[in-house]
Amino acid sequence: MKSILVQLDTDPQPSVFDRVVAVDAGVDQLFSHGGATPETVESLVHGAIFTRGIPDLSRTAIFVGGSDVAAGEHVFAAVQQAFFGPMRVSVMMDSNGSNTTAAAAVLRARRHVPLAGSVAVVLGATGPVGQRAAELLALEGAHVRVGSRSVERAAETCEAIAGRVDGDLSPVATADPDGVSTALEGASTVIAAGATGVQLISAEMLKAATDLEVAIDLNAVPPLGIEGVEMTDKAVETDGVVRYGAIGVGGTKMKIHTAALKRLFDANDGVLDTEAIYRIGESLEA
Ligand SMILES: NC(=O)c1ccc[n+]([C@@H]2O[C@H](COP(=O)([O-])OP(=O)(O)OC[C@H]3O[C@@H](n4cnc5c(N)ncnc54)[C@H](OP(=O)(O)O)[C@@H]3O)[C@@H](O)[C@H]2O)c1
Repeated sequence: MKSILVQLDTDPQPSVFDRVVAVDAGVDQLFSHGGATPETVESLVHGAIFTRGIPDLSRTAIFVGGSDVAAGEHVFAAVQQAFFGPMRVSVMMDSNGSNTTAAAAVLRARRHVPLAGSVAVVLGATGPVGQRAAELLALEGAHVRVGSRSVERAAETCEAIAGRVDGDLSPVATADPDGVSTALEGASTVIAAGATGVQLISAEMLKAATDLEVAIDLNAVPPLGIEGVEMTDKAVETDGVVRYGAIGVGGTKMKIHTAALKRLFDANDGVLDTEAIYRIGESLEA
C-alpha cells in the first residue's frame, strides 16, 4: 500500500523545502495543504483516518509545518485532538525546522562535551529554536543558562520549559556584552540561536570564554551570531573551541528530518514532538 504524507502548513503556500524532504524520504504521495489552522484541520484529519482500515493506517501520516512555530504548535495539538481510539495516524511537528534544528545542535554539542552536569548557554533562547535547544540540554542534565535581552522573557522561557522537563534552568540577561560574558563564565557549551543577521558574541567575548569547549551558531545570515564561527564550520577546532556554523549543523538536521519522516510510517500512533525527534536523531548517532 502506498505511503501518504498529509502536509499541514500554517503558511498560505506549503513549504517547498518540506515537500522536497518528504519526496527524498520516499513518501509515495504527498498531499500539501496551506493555511492550516486549528479550526480547519479536523476535516483533513478525518479524511486521513477514515479512509483506510485500521491495520493500514500506518501507511498514512501527518506533517505539521510552516514558518510560524506557535501556530504550528496549535495545529499539532488540534490534529491530535481530532484522533480517537485507534483512529489515528502518526504526526510530526517541525515548523520552521525548529525541532530538527535544535536536535541537531544539541546532538552535535554532545559529541564533544559530556553534557550532564556541565554548564550550557543558549543565546536567543526565547525563540522557538533556542527554547527547544535549552529544553534538550536540560533533558541531557546540563545546567542551562537561558539567555535573552530581557531577563523577564528568559524567566518565562525557563518556566515554560520546566513545565515539560525536570531540569536545571536559570535565566540570564544578555542584552549587552557584559551580560553575555557573564553568561559564558564557566560554560562548556554555547548555542547561539538568535534571530537572523544578529551578532550575539564578538571574537573578543569568545576568546575571553576560556572554559568553552564547543560553540554552535545557528544563524546563517551575516552578520553571523558568533564572530569567528563560519557558516560552514563543522567540528572545526580553533583555540581549543570546537565550532559549528548553521550549515555545519544543517547536514545533521536534514538527516534527522528525513529519518523522522520515515519513522512516521512505522506505526499509526507516533507523536513526533521535540523530544521524540531528538531521540530519533540520537538513534542515528549510534
Ligand atoms: N541551520 C538551520 O537549519 C536553521 C533552521 C531554523 C532556524 N535557523 C536559525 O536559528 C536561529 C533561531 O531561529 P528562531 O526562529 O528561534 O529565531 P527568532 O525567533 O527569530 O529569534 C530568536 C531570538 O533572538 C533574539 N533576538 C531577536 N532580535 C534580536 C536582536 N536584534 N538582537 C539580539 N537578539 C535578538 C530574540 O530573543 P530576546 O528578544 O528574548 O532577546 C528572539 O527570541 C535563526 O538565526 C534561524 O535563522 C537555522
